[in-house]
Amino acid sequence: MTHSTETREAARPRPPRRRPPARAGLAETVRFMATHTLPVFVRGVASPRFGVVALYSRLNQPAWSDATLRSMRARHGGAPVLVRGLSGEMLVLFDEEDVARFFAEPMDVLAMDARDRLDSLSVFEPTGVICSHGRLREDRREVNDRALAAGQDVHPSCAEYQRIVTQECRPLTATTVLGLPGLRTALARISRRTVLGDRAADDTELAGWLTTLRDRANWMGRSRPEASRALYARAEERIARYAADAPEHTLAARALAAPCPEGTDPLGQTHHWLLAVEVCAPVVLRTLLLLAAHPAEQDEVRAEIAADTPGLPRLRACVRESLRLYPIVPDLVRVTRAATQWRGVRHPAGTTVHVPIGFHQRDPERVPGGHLFAPGRWLVPGADLDPRTAPFGQGPGRCPGDRLGLLLSSLVCAEVLRGNRLTGARPVLDTGRPLPGILDTAGIRLRLGRP
Ligand code: HEM
Repeated sequence: MTHSTETREAARPRPPRRRPPARAGLAETVRFMATHTLPVFVRGVASPRFGVVALYSRLNQPAWSDATLRSMRARHGGAPVLVRGLSGEMLVLFDEEDVARFFAEPMDVLAMDARDRLDSLSVFEPTGVICSHGRLREDRREVNDRALAAGQDVHPSCAEYQRIVTQECRPLTATTVLGLPGLRTALARISRRTVLGDRAADDTELAGWLTTLRDRANWMGRSRPEASRALYARAEERIARYAADAPEHTLAARALAAPCPEGTDPLGQTHHWLLAVEVCAPVVLRTLLLLAAHPAEQDEVRAEIAADTPGLPRLRACVRESLRLYPIVPDLVRVTRAATQWRGVRHPAGTTVHVPIGFHQRDPERVPGGHLFAPGRWLVPGADLDPRTAPFGQGPGRCPGDRLGLLLSSLVCAEVLRGNRLTGARPVLDTGRPLPGILDTAGIRLRLGRP
């Protein structure tokens, strides 16, 4: 990648003359807003509204957004397109090389602190990395990454987390039908125990406060800001009490144990961690649904579990594949800190850059079998760095909890599948056809039977 003092350009040869940017016209902008941007807000930016998800599933809403993005890409020849969004213009990337560059650029060029995200998430994690700027952001990210053991395949607390998962999954395998409520309860307890310790396991009051704050984050911080600040303060105090004597293996203790730069609250990230671990519940449920619909894959995974294969690579590949098909973060956003050039067109500092990664990673024109469940693709060397399929993002902005999320999700799946077989599931997925673009996760029911 070449650097210049004023502008940056991807290594690909570009025409020297300046061109006007590709810009969405009025009809295209309205279509983009109606089929892509607004549905994300209605579904909930910070906390999914499951009723809306069920409606989208009936209406096959992702197909509308896919059709819009496909036609924009064709109309503008794959060039980045400026589109007016809810809070100003953004540059939408369609080309694989542009997406690869989006991931590769350092934070001082493509920063992660986009305004929308801050407004929304500062309700429940005001001192978290996601709501910080500049140097402070980097410091906070460092504290965060150390506690999460970002980039390490085996988390140092792996053995303790395995023990917690085994204990919390017992109620799940004691039943014959598994759905979202049971998994949410299990993951919420796993989350409190791994982040704050066993003393917090039963604290559903704290969980309720954090849920309220997350729901309010859907309103971009405009719903009852005073009440939210007071609630945040109560939650913060409760978290600090647990953290004060949390055992070594917890994320809170790991954050407190390391040196912490001035202005960086080591516990400022706990809210995000508690949420992020809980989010593994729908991930696990969708992975298991896909395995129920693909019995041969289920057999391979069960054999891997029975053999105690270290790291459960096949099962992890299934979790990744379910995240590719049903991403938690379908749109990635950065804001430029310097002037940049994309395909020979100069864009000023402060440009919002948008990658609809949920669209890209299913795109059958670029990703073979894009709408099918094919977990083997994640076992191919280098798959984790393929910019077409990036459910955790990539590069300096990559999710620092990716390994932990995969670890906990695959351990929970393994507990369910150990000694059990998924014998039936609702909804019934037709594996001979493209998989639905969205699943009504709250409506999933899995039947557990003896093998
Ligand atoms: C298992 C499911 C998970 C998925 C699919 C996921 C995905 C993502 C994605 C796509 C991003 C944004 C990356 C970008 O903008 O390029 C992100 C950010 C982040 N994730 Fe995750 N994540 C997961 C689990 C976790 C867990 C378990 C934790 C911690 C306990 C975590 C902590 C974070 C943090 C702190 C950030 C913000 C990073 C920053 O803004 O610098 N994630 N995640």
